[in-house]
Amino acid sequence: MTAARRAVEPGRFRHALGQFATGVTVITTTTTAGPVGCTVSAFCSLSLDPPLVLACLGRDRSMHRALTSAPGFGVSILASDQGVLARDFARPADRFAGVAHSSGRYGPHLDGAIAHLDCALYEIRDGGDHVIVLGLVDAVVVHAGEPLLYAQGAFLDVPGPDWERAAASAPQEWLLSAPW
Ligand SMILES: Cc1cc2nc3c(=O)[nH]c(=O)nc-3n(C[C@H](O)[C@H](O)[C@H](O)COP(=O)(O)O)c2cc1C
Repeated sequence: MTAARRAVEPGRFRHALGQFATGVTVITTTTTAGPVGCTVSAFCSLSLDPPLVLACLGRDRSMHRALTSAPGFGVSILASDQGVLARDFARPADRFAGVAHSSGRYGPHLDGAIAHLDCALYEIRDGGDHVIVLGLVDAVVVHAGEPLLYAQGAFLDVPGPDWERAAASAPQEWLLSAPW
């Protein structure tokens, strides 16, 4: 089979991959010009020993440029009520204006997030029109709250971790996808 025949049309590719639900993070770092940050849903854990995470960034993202000369980055895992913040950190604007945050080791931590990670830059690998940024996690803080979830181009409103209560009021189809 040729490469051309294997290629999936981009719209279909995006639509199919949009069916995969994720959490939402804001990744930050500090530059000589000040802090930079951007919304990233292509984020996941990679390794326990050593503790590695990865994030996929478009090659043309300002965050990619900033990370090529940064010692590391901060990750804020957004809470379910931070959808507006997620949109704002994807817009061309002064993203930190009016946004409460504290300083992390490599980049700001956004207030209200349910977890913060400090990651030393481990490696930046090729990923087609994106790059895969690997971070070695050297500190984590977890706060109370529910995660912001994203799928099909929208933020999801789903039952929280009170699975028994949710199951009691849910149809059988829902039970089939419950985590037990
Ligand atoms: C919910 C959501 C998830 C996103 N996930 C990613 C991602 O995983 N990787 C990425 O490169 N851009 C992602 N983006 C888009 C970037 O945040 C946005 O395009 C980027 O900040 C703009 O580039 P700039 O920082 O160079 O202006 C996402 C945007 C939203 C709203």
